[in-house]
Amino acid sequence: MEKRELLYEGKAKRLFLTDDENLVISEFKDDLTAFNGEKKSSEAGKGALNNKISTELFKLLEANGIPTHFVKMIDDNHMLHTKVDVILIEVIVRNIATGSLTRNLGIEDGKVLPFTLVEFDYKDDDLGDPKLNDQHCLILELVEHQDELDKLRRMARQVNDVLKPYFAEKGLNLVDFKLEFGKDSSGNIILVDEISPDNCRFWDIESGEKMDKDRFRQGLGGLTVAYEQVLNRILGK
Ligand code: CDP
Repeated sequence: MEKRELLYEGKAKRLFLTDDENLVISEFKDDLTAFNGEKKSSEAGKGALNNKISTELFKLLEANGIPTHFVKMIDDNHMLHTKVDVILIEVIVRNIATGSLTRNLGIEDGKVLPFTLVEFDYKDDDLGDPKLNDQHCLILELVEHQDELDKLRRMARQVNDVLKPYFAEKGLNLVDFKLEFGKDSSGNIILVDEISPDNCRFWDIESGEKMDKDRFRQGLGGLTVAYEQVLNRILGK
């Protein structure tokens, strides 16, 4: 597979075309951003850790019948995946209240939610990723039909149903996470982007320690050590 020109550079990844029009390569960067790009840094090794963690989690989800864009990990920082049209909706799944949920609604931080909450945010940095309801999604033509929104919610819950018990067994609470979806060349909706401590919150079940990007957001330090621990628990080390 030949890596061709840069198609797009995002905050955490670069996307490259390949000699196959249906496949692209993501390069996972060491860059870190938070608060809509206002806080910036870089941590050597972070990109490779996220590539490895995402690879394992995409394989797990595929094995559980959830279609993803994952094809293979090429090397430490590169993943080969299906080219899609990204749906500009960030699907947020929450098991425990924290972050913007506690800030916006005053729900106590750490409260276990009575049921899994699925929310939609508009993937638009200029607007600051505002919350969307179904009608907003249809008015903005982010999807074609209500059915597709129902499908995003259904798939997000399926992902949670696989990942939450999987991480619990490894001593981690899956607090919340963000998913992105896209449409492949046949129009099928598949899971895309990455699944890593950059877009999931993991709390150690015993100590309550944060093992995710909140270490950077909150200036706690030890980010790559925590990400490496997440990877090691996934690999059963
Ligand atoms: O970070 P903040 O508290 O503002 O956002 P949140 O809405 O509480 O985030 C919920 C979950 O989605 C967390 O696991 C975030 O890491 C993730 N997220 C993300 O990956 N990208 C975004 N643009 C927003 C949230």
